[in-house]
Amino acid sequence: MNASAAITVKQLQVHFASSRGAPVRAVDGVDMEIQQGELHGIVGESGCGKTSLARTIAGLQRPTGGSVTFDGRELDDWRRERLAFSRHVQFIFQDPLASLSRRQTISQSLEEPLKIHGLGSASQRRERILELLQLVSLPETCLDRLPRALSGGQRQRVAIARALALDPRILICDEPLSALDVSIRAQILNLFADLQKKLNLSIVLIAHDLAIIRLVCTRVSVMYLGKIVETGPTSELFARPRHPYTRALLEAAPSIDPEIERSCHVQLLSGDPPSPSSPPSGCRFHTRCPFSAPVCEIEEPILRLVDERTKVACHVA
Ligand SMILES: Nc1ncnc2c1ncn2[C@@H]1O[C@H](COP(=O)(O)OP(=O)(O)OP(=O)(O)O)[C@@H](O)[C@H]1O
Ligand SMILES: [Mg+2]
Repeated sequence: MNASAAITVKQLQVHFASSRGAPVRAVDGVDMEIQQGELHGIVGESGCGKTSLARTIAGLQRPTGGSVTFDGRELDDWRRERLAFSRHVQFIFQDPLASLSRRQTISQSLEEPLKIHGLGSASQRRERILELLQLVSLPETCLDRLPRALSGGQRQRVAIARALALDPRILICDEPLSALDVSIRAQILNLFADLQKKLNLSIVLIAHDLAIIRLVCTRVSVMYLGKIVETGPTSELFARPRHPYTRALLEAAPSIDPEIERSCHVQLLSGDPPSPSSPPSGCRFHTRCPFSAPVCEIEEPILRLVDERTKVACHVA
């Protein structure tokens, strides 16, 4: 295990029983490390398992196989100390209302985690609440309001402040911008980047939009059908995508590098991804990959280092 890894994920599987027969293999053998103080982006098409992975890392979903280790201890071990674990690892939902009670004022919402953990006197808690408001740039006038009286962006700021109340080390954010108005997404994105630096937080940011990842993430992992197919420093991955699927995603993204466009002008990603209940043999991407070779249908490629910091799971990359 890397000395600076905050979370280590090994051969993680999250399978869901299905009434239609074979289980849905939402996450199917993921290895990854979230370093302390990094902003780690996870991208991939709808249904590739991003939420299932994120929820499992955050301890909200039990894995079917493999392990998640936080602070040198497996999540199963932390289960008996659920409260202690939740101090360190917090989850931000797409819809801020998912973590805020509609009937609680913002002040009550922010105080609740402090109360649950028995932290501080009433006046100390009040002080902490004001500190949290400042961290997320919300005015004190919000405090007596109910969530519905705030804008979507303000509500997400409150949800972030609440998640920060206990001074966590890791924030797992599942598409935290997608429910927000396009015009305020950049502000919330900048807030994540600021918080990461200010608090040395590790932030896992799930996004559909590659432009979001590119702007703030230090590292990015690309998922396809329950697996990570490429992971590396953001600048490297955008400058030199190695996996055909990463290239396809970049090609589909609006802000594409002309260099990449020239080198990869094949029409990729036609059709829907195969079912996660019966993924293709060998490399799961071979059915949609224009570079597929015979070996790809038979042998599953392992995620291997291709340079100092980038890993790719592909036979032909
Ligand atoms: N509780 C569940 N029960 C059964 N199947 C599930 C459950 N949660 C997710 N799945 C299935 O697991 C697969 C992965 O879903 P997941 O929500 O993790 O993907 P995602 O990458 O987050 O997708 P999106 O981008 O649409 O949010 C999908 O096929 C989904 O239908
Ligand atoms: Mg999701």
